[in-house]
Amino acid sequence: MNEVSNETRFLHAVEVGLGAWQWGDRVLWGYKPGQSDEDIRKAFDISLEMGVRFIDTAEVYGSGRSERLLGQFIKETEQPVLIATKFFPMPWRFYKNSIPTALKGSLERMGVSSVDLYQVHWPSVVMSPEKLMEGMAVCIKEGLTRTIGVSNFWETRMLRAYSALAQQGIPLASNQIPYSLLNREAEKNGLLARCKELGIRFIAYSPLSQGLLTGKYSVANPPAGVRGSAYADVLKKLPPVVKALQEIAQSHGKTVSQVALNWIVCKGAMPIPGAKNAKQAEENAGGSGWRMTNDEVALLDEVTDNIRDYSK
Ligand SMILES: NC(=O)c1ccc[n+]([C@@H]2O[C@H](COP(=O)([O-])OP(=O)(O)OC[C@H]3O[C@@H](n4cnc5c(N)ncnc54)[C@H](OP(=O)(O)O)[C@@H]3O)[C@@H](O)[C@H]2O)c1
Repeated sequence: MNEVSNETRFLHAVEVGLGAWQWGDRVLWGYKPGQSDEDIRKAFDISLEMGVRFIDTAEVYGSGRSERLLGQFIKETEQPVLIATKFFPMPWRFYKNSIPTALKGSLERMGVSSVDLYQVHWPSVVMSPEKLMEGMAVCIKEGLTRTIGVSNFWETRMLRAYSALAQQGIPLASNQIPYSLLNREAEKNGLLARCKELGIRFIAYSPLSQGLLTGKYSVANPPAGVRGSAYADVLKKLPPVVKALQEIAQSHGKTVSQVALNWIVCKGAMPIPGAKNAKQAEENAGGSGWRMTNDEVALLDEVTDNIRDYSK
């Protein structure tokens, strides 16, 4: 493994984070303005109480609502929070300076002067990885972010971003990718290993497969809305996975969700489960601070080896 740079070391110390897409998103997550806010606030509070302080948001989540809520909560707590947000590469954003401009918008919504991690949300159709990184580097130089990351960058693009930043003496801090027991593409195609080699923190999004790995959904009880149809096929393959998760959960006094998250921790990645309320956030925080055995990791590998979450 490459030496982890001093600037990015804090990210490698985080075992589990908290995803904030749910905080404002009505389409997939059914957010209701006002009504959901108290639950979300409690999810934030309990997370900090349980030691989860890395929070992942994005300018596009709830069209800025997620950043606004996070900013409001941060103002009302004494506890330190690590903020990660993202630049969305809209096709009309083709100047490198669009990036610091967008980040200033995020900072304003959150009422803070800088963030801990600024990520490019998706590859851009109009800016190369090199050009994107030029804009990201401006954010570092202006003191708007402590570190820089990418998201949904597979190996070739990630290496281009890594090299472009390296030329300016800036480490690529992280890559945020879908990764869970039901979606092991990044493990199988070598991206996870490459990140470890280069000291890039691998951040696993949708670590509970959008709720499927909590054990509460089945063919008879599918998730509501878009998720129900998107996951129709994978729900059929779920029972042996949930059974294995339950067995491991029982032997450690944990829950199915906590085991699913712990498997990711054991693989050397940081899961950022999304939580809508205190109960979910508290349970998810318990995905860290312990380790399943190597045999248990191997059993979960085996039962999920041929499953692919085709909704992505
Ligand atoms: N970079 C990207 O392109 C990208 C893409 C997607 C997500 N993300 C980030 O990754 C985070 C997590 O991914 P995700 O939100 O897609 O999926 P996820 O974390 O796998 O699933 C979150 C959902 O699962 C259910 N859930 C969570 N914890 C639970 C628990 N303990 N018990 C029962 N149900 C529970 C909740 O939905 P229900 O209660 O409705 O079932 C929750 O909204 C996001 O919040 C976001 O920050 C990034």
